[in-house]
Amino acid sequence: MDLKKLFGYEGKKVVITGAASGMSKSATELLLELGAEVYAIDINPIDLPVKKAYQADLSDKEQIDKVLKDLPDKIDALFLCHGIAGFKGKELLVQKVNFYSQKYMTEQLLDRISDHGSVTFIASVGGFGWQQVYPKAVELINLNSWDAAMKWYEEHPKEIESAYVFAKQCLLSYVTYKCMSPEFINRRIRINAINPGDTTTGLTEDFNKSTSPTGDAEEGAQMIENIFLKSWNGYAAEPKDMGYPMVVVGSDICSYMSGQLIYIDFGLTSNWTSMALLNSNNKTIEEISHESNA
Ligand SMILES: NC(=O)c1ccc[n+]([C@@H]2O[C@H](COP(=O)([O-])OP(=O)(O)OC[C@H]3O[C@@H](n4cnc5c(N)ncnc54)[C@H](O)[C@@H]3O)[C@@H](O)[C@H]2O)c1
Repeated sequence: MDLKKLFGYEGKKVVITGAASGMSKSATELLLELGAEVYAIDINPIDLPVKKAYQADLSDKEQIDKVLKDLPDKIDALFLCHGIAGFKGKELLVQKVNFYSQKYMTEQLLDRISDHGSVTFIASVGGFGWQQVYPKAVELINLNSWDAAMKWYEEHPKEIESAYVFAKQCLLSYVTYKCMSPEFINRRIRINAINPGDTTTGLTEDFNKSTSPTGDAEEGAQMIENIFLKSWNGYAAEPKDMGYPMVVVGSDICSYMSGQLIYIDFGLTSNWTSMALLNSNNKTIEEISHESNA
């Protein structure tokens, strides 16, 4: 069996964001190995032999529009991977980078995505419990312009207070809401998200700082370890542990898979679900995850 043929990326046009570092860089390396023609975008320089690299700030609509104009007329797979940590005072920026730009790019490029093509996001285990915000997220998703969305954010400071979590929950809501909407399903365009657990990447230092109430990286690292690793005496993933499965999800191997929110966390969130389902005191998932890791 020809493995490259099985993936189906040979000679295909692939657009990927966040490719300068971490999971997306790993994914890009594999896509190139599999023969894809890759168009990669990042705010930082991209050091890979892609067909074309764009340096652009994807929180900025004008810069996005400029890149979109230059991307090919036909795209077979789109991967939206850029992301930042959720620092206090940066709530709106986090929504733009981690969710809204990704929705905007998807919808602007949808006409160019080929029938049976794929759209794949990197969300996060941080978006676990997305069902709780689903109606609010759908309200935001249904707004039909960038400006209307920015106004919505301005009017909903409480919703975006937990900035990273809300943006990732919006991504997961988006996949769930859109997978069977006519613009995707009628053309058999698949839409999925992977949800990484703790992974050592370019974001690790910022995650550590933003998790600590005082911005202390060491304290934040300890807190992250307690939440994600302590209960199973685990270890942080490497970028390829996330980037490679994402390439599989976007490939022809997964040609019947759509609307899926795939947790890549060594079972951690399934364990949280198990405990919640067996728990008779109606505790929330957050309380349970906290207790199981205390
Ligand atoms: N590292 C983790 O533990 C973890 C866990 C769950 C989810 N994630 C998510 O994984 C995705 C990939 O992140 P990573 O962990 O590989 O980190 P990373 O920092 O190595 O990669 C993120 C990339 O996004 C780019 N980027 C950031 N802001 C941008 C902007 N405004 N415009 C264009 N590009 C921008 C960065 O330059 C970087 O190259 C992110 O969406 C992140 O939220 C990470």
